[in-house]
Formats: sequence, structure tokens, C-alpha cells
Amino acid sequence: MGKVTVTDHPLIQHKLTLLRDVNTSSKDFRQLLTEITMLMGHELTRDLPIQDKVIQTPMGTATGKEMAGKKPVIVPVLRAGLGMVDGLLNLVPGARVGHIGLYRDPETLQPVEYYCKLPKDVSEREVIIVDPMLATGGSLAAAIDFVKERGASHIRALCLLAAPEGMEALQKAHPDVDIYVSCIDEKLDDNAYIVPGLGDAGDRIFGTK
Ligand code: PRP
Ligand code: URA
Repeated sequence: MGKVTVTDHPLIQHKLTLLRDVNTSSKDFRQLLTEITMLMGHELTRDLPIQDKVIQTPMGTATGKEMAGKKPVIVPVLRAGLGMVDGLLNLVPGARVGHIGLYRDPETLQPVEYYCKLPKDVSEREVIIVDPMLATGGSLAAAIDFVKERGASHIRALCLLAAPEGMEALQKAHPDVDIYVSCIDEKLDDNAYIVPGLGDAGDRIFGTK
């Protein structure tokens, strides 16, 4: 079973409270989401492979460390996942960015694909799928299916909030994927929105309500 990490650092909890607040503007929402993603990214990247690197300091030779292998690929699930890209790129500027376009059909709640663009060599990279909301888990599970179909095998998912139902569904669908989440909320409502949640993440990021 994949590992579940709840990144409940005090700073994340503080910023998450601001972000959930219905009175928070889109501008502040985006800024807070970037800041939380950076804090979560610190934990998410903890076990990325590194190797020795010999350099010259002004005082002599030192053996430091550098990231090993190909750079990871960050894959936001459009639209709301876009709000988490900058936070990770701030930490790993050389990362590649793929995109998966999915929306949840409001009637069936099933994910509908409309776009997919990933690096050709995605199978050789660590894949970090980002989406702030893990509600039923259908969208994230479908996004993981896409990257697996293209050969990826090292996949982790970074979400801001999850519902217990979605966590269970995702773990069942993709037991090999590690999940990082800042809070597991109480439940889903009758429209499969996370409660207490933060509302519609895409609308709050892009001001489209
Ligand atoms: C939201 C969210 C997830 C999905 C979660 O996207 O960003 O992708 O819903 O729901 P699920 O776990 O039940 O599948 P939405 O479909 O609203 O699209 P948007 O990001 O374009 O607004
Ligand atoms: N998508 C969102 O944006 N918010 C939810 O609570 C559930 C799905």
C-alpha cells in the first residue's frame, strides 16, 4: 500500500485556515496555495535521489550533493492543479511540467478528459501529480491512469485537501502511489464537495464564480 503523509506543519495549518476562509480573495488564495505547496513540497521531495558532487570552494575541495538522475515531472490536473505548479517549481526549477485536462461531470461526477501533454520520457522520471482537491478520487485516479499508460511507474500525488472517501478510493485504485495531503476533511456532501473544504478550488484560484 502506498504511503499517506499528512503534512500538518503549524505553518501549513495556519495558511490553510486563511485559504479556506470564504472572504479570502483569489489573489491571496493563489499566494497561499503557492506557499503551502512549497511547505508540502519540502516533505514530498525528502527522498528524491541525490549523488556526490565534488566542487571547489574558495578554501579547497568539498564533496557536496546534487540531485541524481532525470529531473522530476510535475503534472497538474487542470485547472485547479495549476495553482500548485509554481510552488514546486520554486523548489525544483529544472523540473518538467506535463498537463492533464480533466473536469468532473456535474451530473455523473465522472472525470472527462480534454487534454494530455507529457514529456516523452515520462517513464524515466519521478512523476508528481498535483491537484488541490481529492474528493471522490475519480479525477486523480484517472490522471494516474494516464501517466501509467505512458509508462510511468514512480508516481506520487500531492493534494491540499482530501475526503476520507476519496483517499480510500484512490488507495484502492492505485495502491502503489504515495499520497501527500495537508488535511483529511470530514466528508463529502451530496454534490461530492469536500466538507468543510474550501469550495470550488478552480473557481477560487481563477475567480470564475
Ligand atoms: C476539481 C478538482 C479535482 C476534482 C476533484 O476539478 O480540482 O480535479 O474536482 O473531484 P473528484 O476527486 O471527485 O474527481 P473540477 O472538475 O472542478 O475542474 P476544474 O479544476 O477545471 O475546476
Ligand atoms: N472539486 C472542488 O473544487 N472542490 C471540492 O470540494 C470537490 C471537488
